[in-house]
Amino acid sequence: MTIPDKKSSVFPHALGNDGHIFFRGRGLPDALLVNLSILLSNPGSRSNDVVSMKILGINASPKGKESQTLRLVNSVLRGAESEGAETEIIDLYSLHIEYCTACGECYATGECPLVDDYPELFDRMIDADAIVLGSPNYIDSITAPLKAVFDRMADAIHCQMLSGKYGCSVCTAGGSGQMEVVKYMNQVLTSLGATAVGGVGVAIGRDLSAIVQAEKDAFSLGQRLAQSVRGEHRYPEQDEIHRQRREYFCRLITLNKTRWAHEYDWWVEKGEIRR
Ligand SMILES: Cc1cc2nc3c(=O)[nH]c(=O)nc-3n(C[C@H](O)[C@H](O)[C@H](O)COP(=O)(O)O)c2cc1C
Repeated sequence: MTIPDKKSSVFPHALGNDGHIFFRGRGLPDALLVNLSILLSNPGSRSNDVVSMKILGINASPKGKESQTLRLVNSVLRGAESEGAETEIIDLYSLHIEYCTACGECYATGECPLVDDYPELFDRMIDADAIVLGSPNYIDSITAPLKAVFDRMADAIHCQMLSGKYGCSVCTAGGSGQMEVVKYMNQVLTSLGATAVGGVGVAIGRDLSAIVQAEKDAFSLGQRLAQSVRGEHRYPEQDEIHRQRREYFCRLITLNKTRWAHEYDWWVEKGEIRR
């Protein structure tokens, strides 16, 4: 397995055949887990219509192919594939992601001065119809690299750049807190403008069979995600939240239009702000 130099871009490897960095949604050997909780509501009916869609999985565990969370991300992707989606998965720990320095340059110009793998990762998110986030519970939260990615997305939140996309989240924990982490990741997806369709969390410390049920639930979640991209499920409450967010950010950005010129121009171009 090639471990990329953390200070260099890994995406050239990712675009090649390096399975450590990028691999399509395939499962790992069975292992053990426990205590499943699930946010997923009733999966909708299956349609035979084949619509081209891309679903991107991002797994934020340092354990590579040994990650238990990866099992859930892969199950979501397999469920989406069963509904006709093309899938791709990124191992976040194989990327080089710098911390946001709060310079404000992205608000002003749309450009980030940091040089790392973030822009390529973001392009892949933009290219996808739906995004699956996976993180283990680390001290009642997501892992640090995923938080670093979220912190780089403040401009994307101001501009609601994931509008029209769908997403879902999965988490494994040793003992507890998995659903809080799922909820947080889905909240970030919603903040970015995407519609969150559900989540699966499981604690693996006590009940060795829980991962098996969690994988089944994650598969159903992947089916629902693909069906949602196809328009087979409606989320009117989130549509309303998105409408309110657009209004809020347009007001905020208008108040700051001189220093946040790029964001002002963005919303003018979208027709949401009139000069
Ligand atoms: C640094 C660290 C912090 C953790 N914090 C928690 C925690 O707060 N609560 C919990 O239930 N499990 C915690 N765990 C256990 C992991 O969430 C659990 O082993 C998870 O399944 C690992 O997923 P992975 O195999 O995908 O990396 C922690 C593990 C590590 C290494």
